[in-house]
Amino acid sequence: MIRGRMNAQMITLGIETSCDETGVALYSPEKGLIAHALHSQVDLHAAYGGVVPEIASRDHVRMLLPLIQQLMKKAGIDKPDAIAYTAGPGLVGALMVGGGMANGLGLAWNCPVVAVHHMEGHLLAPMLEEHSPAFPFLALLVSGGHTMLIAVRRLGEYEVLGTTLDDAAGEAFDKTAKLLGLGYPGGPQLAALAEKGDETAYSLPRPMLNKPGLDFSFSGLKTAVMLAVRDAEAEGKLADCRADIAASFQRAAVDTLVGKALRAAESEGLDRIVVAGGVGANRLLRSEIAARFPGQVFYPRFEFCTDNGAMIAVAGAMRLSEAGDASEIRAQARWSLDTLKVPAQV
Ligand code: KG4
Ligand code: ZN
Repeated sequence: MIRGRMNAQMITLGIETSCDETGVALYSPEKGLIAHALHSQVDLHAAYGGVVPEIASRDHVRMLLPLIQQLMKKAGIDKPDAIAYTAGPGLVGALMVGGGMANGLGLAWNCPVVAVHHMEGHLLAPMLEEHSPAFPFLALLVSGGHTMLIAVRRLGEYEVLGTTLDDAAGEAFDKTAKLLGLGYPGGPQLAALAEKGDETAYSLPRPMLNKPGLDFSFSGLKTAVMLAVRDAEAEGKLADCRADIAASFQRAAVDTLVGKALRAAESEGLDRIVVAGGVGANRLLRSEIAARFPGQVFYPRFEFCTDNGAMIAVAGAMRLSEAGDASEIRAQARWSLDTLKVPAQV
């Protein structure tokens, strides 16, 4: 282990390959984000209606090194001082590509390599912004694979307060979008369609909002949308009703997320909330939480809500004290956030 080597000038290269985005970035505590680049595989997977793991891994293999080369050239940097890569959770083949590359480059450049938890990357993404939160805060982490409320007491000390019992929030957006005939990934397209609809047109359930506790469930809402779509189809009115169904779904999902987040912040006595993960790009979610939460709300900029290399670089830089020297590749499909440890220097 290489410890105590962190200083403000150190430049960390972040590598993200856990799913369908190849993301790279350079970050230093002194300069902040120096450069970043992203290659999205969305077009490759669109025809299949979801991410195909083997296609994802192959495309990361094809794109990652050229993307790093372009990034270094753009920033005018020959070699970084450290490398951070996403080690999980995610698709194991895709993770292996980033892990293999990070450790190979770590050997070549003789620099420390940090294995980063993807969700820790998401919840630390607002640290890239000028308006960044101090610890402790509540994180509402809403992505395609996860829906979590986390008490973030300090770097590495995370208590998962609530999670989804079935679909993730992003998955619910994606599945509803599919029912409405929208393409993949459905979340942004559904949000755009919802802007043209009436959110009071359908009375959809706010799952778990009336129950105590901080867990989520989106399957009942999904079924209610399915029935609304089926009825509209049977009456030959689906084309006219699509925007109303989208708007009513979005309102129900956002009410549920915001309701639970406020409950969690209050019960934990936290006056800062971070909204992160792909669904954190949703404008209604952002405006609603800002309007209803009396404390401060923090977000990453829109492009860093979804998967990217910048959040991995900043999380890696913050965890630099526990970097290893390129001897093992970690790739964990499943990895619980609350098993992370506080790094040595914090
Ligand atoms: O964090 P992310 O890029 O990937 C995972 O780690 O899962 O999140 C992707 C998810 C997708 O389900 C996508 O539909 C959703 O975030 N998403 C949105 C919006 N933008 C992305 N959902 C609702 N509204 C949006 N504006
Ligand atoms: Zn993600």
